[in-house]
Amino acid sequence: MNLKDFKPRTIVEPFRIRSVEPIGFTTRQERKKALEAAGYNPFLLRAEDILIDLLTDSGTGAMSSSQWAAMLASDESYAGARSYFKFERAVREITGFTEVMPTHQGRAAEHILFHSVDGAGRVIPNNTHFDTTRAHVENCGAEARDLPSPEGRDPATPAPFKGDMDLAALNALIDEKGAENIPLIMLTVTNNSGGGQPVSMGNIRQVSQVAKKHGIPLFLDACRFAENCWFIKSREPGYKSRSIPEIALEMFSYADGCTMSAKKDGMANIGGFLAMNDAELASRCRSFEILMEGFPTYGGMAGYDMEAIALGLYEAMDERYLEYRVRSIEYLGEKLIAAGIPIIRPTGGHALYIDAGRMLPHIPWHQYPAWSLTNGLYLLGGVRGVEIGSVMFGLQPDGSEKAAALELVRLAFPRRVYTQSHVDYLAELLIELNEQRESLGGYSITRQANVLRHFTAVLEPV
Ligand code: F0G
Repeated sequence: MNLKDFKPRTIVEPFRIRSVEPIGFTTRQERKKALEAAGYNPFLLRAEDILIDLLTDSGTGAMSSSQWAAMLASDESYAGARSYFKFERAVREITGFTEVMPTHQGRAAEHILFHSVDGAGRVIPNNTHFDTTRAHVENCGAEARDLPSPEGRDPATPAPFKGDMDLAALNALIDEKGAENIPLIMLTVTNNSGGGQPVSMGNIRQVSQVAKKHGIPLFLDACRFAENCWFIKSREPGYKSRSIPEIALEMFSYADGCTMSAKKDGMANIGGFLAMNDAELASRCRSFEILMEGFPTYGGMAGYDMEAIALGLYEAMDERYLEYRVRSIEYLGEKLIAAGIPIIRPTGGHALYIDAGRMLPHIPWHQYPAWSLTNGLYLLGGVRGVEIGSVMFGLQPDGSEKAAALELVRLAFPRRVYTQSHVDYLAELLIELNEQRESLGGYSITRQANVLRHFTAVLEPV
């Protein structure tokens, strides 16, 4: 036999399906009624009325048969459970941090960390704060300052590491405020609010050097650490032959600690942790953890959650899985770019972001073009995305309205949930909606809360 090598272009989903969950097929008429009943707010839809749900990649993934098996064998002791020590061992091995505090999700780790550093009147820089991170920084009395790199601010031009922090801006901030007024520097990997874009190892190293020089601790917001490592491996010179665990260990070695939402690269439906090397800071954090989350060996999680995460963190670093994940989103991006649909380029690790401001120039920002596109996606095809635009960010503390920097729709992919036919359907739907884009109209808000209004606002078509 003289067969030549077979080099398939298809990226096979690296799993087979063992348990299935039906998804919600509806008619156009049913969706119209559901959206009206939800006050034209996709957050208020019932999930069973949705065909493909891309609202978030957080806690929405599918667990493996190994995770489910480990969950059955968990130890639910209040203190010192075997499941905790398994979890602690995994976090220590992957991050290198010695102090490990379990939390019920990422924002709980943020709450404990920012409560335990003295933030009042000081500034905490980040490449870009995620909204819960920003809220917790502000809650501790500090200013949350975003320092994205110049490439990160330009949606249309591709660059490999658009999540990088602007080093010159970081140095200028330290000069302006003084190191003593910066309790922490944070780096979010990947940069969710900046389009799911990765941070390069070079940038992490340089930020770490600046932080060390001034004696300021550096913390990673590590929710999507494995995706960030995949981008370093595939895009940064010198990392091609390094394994993902090796890259992760190097990445964490530049930091003094991390916050983590295990609902992302922990492959779990709930959970998180705070980890660090400073035993004195950890001891202060643990006192607050007992008050807010629970005893430090469960911190808001059941033993079975810790079992799921102890395995999930490793499963997230599997290269075949990462390749399938990043490629699925990139594949959708290629189809949309070919059809002339404006998206943030390149596509990110966990999501694709459509530039609705450019796609729907006939809808002014104060009639919320990205909100309109989100509702259009649901009405035409049963897909739920999320607006990241002027409904989310437009309301100012004084009650006035200001245009968001960009009008985006984020399509975030749950982990190991959808297959290529789902992605093909998404491309078809978006291309059809783009052809009918002039039929989409604006919205006005009829009822809203003073903060985080997008979650509960009621709207109507104008
Ligand atoms: N940091 C980042 C970068 C995040 O993306 C999130 C959550 C958190 C912290 C908070 O973690 O939800 O476990 O408390 N992001 C989700 C999203 C909600 O849809 O992007 P959490």
